[in-house]
Amino acid sequence: MCGIVGYIGNRRAVPILLDGLKKLEYRGYDSAGVAVIEKEKLYLNRSVGKLHMLEGRINGNDHQARIGIGHTRWATHGRPSDSNSHPHTDCTGKIAVVHNGIIENFLELKEWLEAEGHVFQSETDTEVLPHLVEHYLKDDLLSAVEKMVARVRGSYATVVLSEDHPDTLVAVRKDNPLIIGVGEGEYFFASDIPAIINYTKKVMVLADGEIAVMTTQGIRVYKDGIPVDKKIDIIDWDTKAAEKGGYPHFMIKEINEQPRALRDTLTGRIAPDYSGVELKEVNLTDDEIKRIQKIAIVACGTAYHAGIVGKYVMEKILRIPVEVDIASEFRYRDPLIDENTLTVIISQSGETADTLAALREAKNRGARVVAITNVVGSSIAREADDVVYTWAGPEIAVASTKAYITQLIGVYILTMYLAKSLDMIPKEDMENILRHLYRLPNQAQEILDNLSGQLNEIAEVFKKWEDAFFVGRGLDYAVALEGSLKLKEISYVHAEAYAAGELKHGTLALIVDNIPVIALSTQPDVFEKTLSNIREIKARGAYVIGVTFEGDTELKKSVDQVIYLPQTLPLLAPVLTVVPLQMLSYYASVHRGCDVDQPRNLAKSVTVE
Ligand code: F6R
Repeated sequence: MCGIVGYIGNRRAVPILLDGLKKLEYRGYDSAGVAVIEKEKLYLNRSVGKLHMLEGRINGNDHQARIGIGHTRWATHGRPSDSNSHPHTDCTGKIAVVHNGIIENFLELKEWLEAEGHVFQSETDTEVLPHLVEHYLKDDLLSAVEKMVARVRGSYATVVLSEDHPDTLVAVRKDNPLIIGVGEGEYFFASDIPAIINYTKKVMVLADGEIAVMTTQGIRVYKDGIPVDKKIDIIDWDTKAAEKGGYPHFMIKEINEQPRALRDTLTGRIAPDYSGVELKEVNLTDDEIKRIQKIAIVACGTAYHAGIVGKYVMEKILRIPVEVDIASEFRYRDPLIDENTLTVIISQSGETADTLAALREAKNRGARVVAITNVVGSSIAREADDVVYTWAGPEIAVASTKAYITQLIGVYILTMYLAKSLDMIPKEDMENILRHLYRLPNQAQEILDNLSGQLNEIAEVFKKWEDAFFVGRGLDYAVALEGSLKLKEISYVHAEAYAAGELKHGTLALIVDNIPVIALSTQPDVFEKTLSNIREIKARGAYVIGVTFEGDTELKKSVDQVIYLPQTLPLLAPVLTVVPLQMLSYYASVHRGCDVDQPRNLAKSVTVE
């Protein structure tokens, strides 16, 4: 999604803006631009394509400006082009605006502004914003931006710069993230922390409807015209966390961080005697838990796949019906949710537009909402009733890896928390599961240490194959869905995941000689059944890569290659099974020469519908 940066202070703005935009590249973009004010004149530089194209344009023009705004655009309204890139300006070229989100009533506003004599240069919805500011600007930039906001419907994080106010930035947000970095005599705006972490660790999170005015003298924040006292949070990330640290790509760095991420997410959550879990930000009473008649899990993409694991795990242990929904479906399908439904929202970023809307929908219907999220202070974390934080750390690669694996831990520990209150788990089973959970970080490390050579070799098959299948039953099917998404998104191989028993109801027609099929077989209760399905696939000539636990003597007889995982409980297998699938996709992407961290057309944080 689009990335925003803004700077006001005593340093040169352009290098800070470009550096910030580079740190936001992971969000996905197709054009970029900056606007600065130098000697009371506004200068604009924009370019379609990657940031080096923008840098090329700026190069001959070494601005000394101390104030400016920058943007990376992920096209929604209008194709990627120089003229559709942000910042957008008004008719006079004196007002510049960057925007993340969608202005839903832009057509009606554009018609009105054109009738008023405004001339538009782009196909974007955003361009109505600088024209609205121009229309309302008398002396005070803040009041013009307030009037602009009163006219627009939709979602926005936006920063406004005006040549007539050369020492002021005004920013406002609704349903899109915007943070303010507080330095010594300098301020920063950004869509996300990596853009400013090199300059300051003091951050204010702008809330929906708040409007901030920054000068070098200080910052004021208002809501509905009333000053707001904002709290400053100190970011405890090490700057290295947002850098590649010697790895060729963020994705492989993040895959390798998984043992640490698992450990951090488990730390402090499991009682030392393995008698239960402690979740500090979950405040459900035993009575409230006993009233739960249904659990609704809602999420998008990879987080949705973590939700499917959640359905299997929760239904098995809690014996409560669990529905899993894609957020963009849930929000519009008039869901059967009420005060006896526990809604579990899963989101890495905590800002996904559809997931946030689903959370609000569930709350409107009286449901209690627990969020499993990675970003402290995100919209989803703030609006949920209870939060289970995953401590994956910043995830920069578009393809989610360490966030997914820690979401699984979130699901397991929430299940154990509910199970204890409901008395649904014998003491020794609780102890056994928690002991095995505790071993997962080291076992994930073993996989990373032992399997990368084998997986790199297997991935060579994707140099020539454009199609692949992933099959499995039960929890293996849930992980197959995630494995196939990973392969699709970063290597552009068309991959499909099937419940192993479902393949023969149509899709088996696509199995031809040597086509790669990844067959997951970690669930003992359906092992024999899955094996029969694998034999059916093998009999049609496929190249089958099996995944199972060490100690297997059967699967290896029916497949071409086996990937062996350290032994854990079948219930916890997804945490280990997914690791080789992530590595396989990574190596496939590298072999195919794809842009691993920023796959085409995709954005990291999907803050528009
Ligand atoms: C795929 C991926 C996406 C996200 C989805 C939800 O690798 O990362 O499918 O999982 O866009 O994002 P969050 O979890 O931020 O709500």
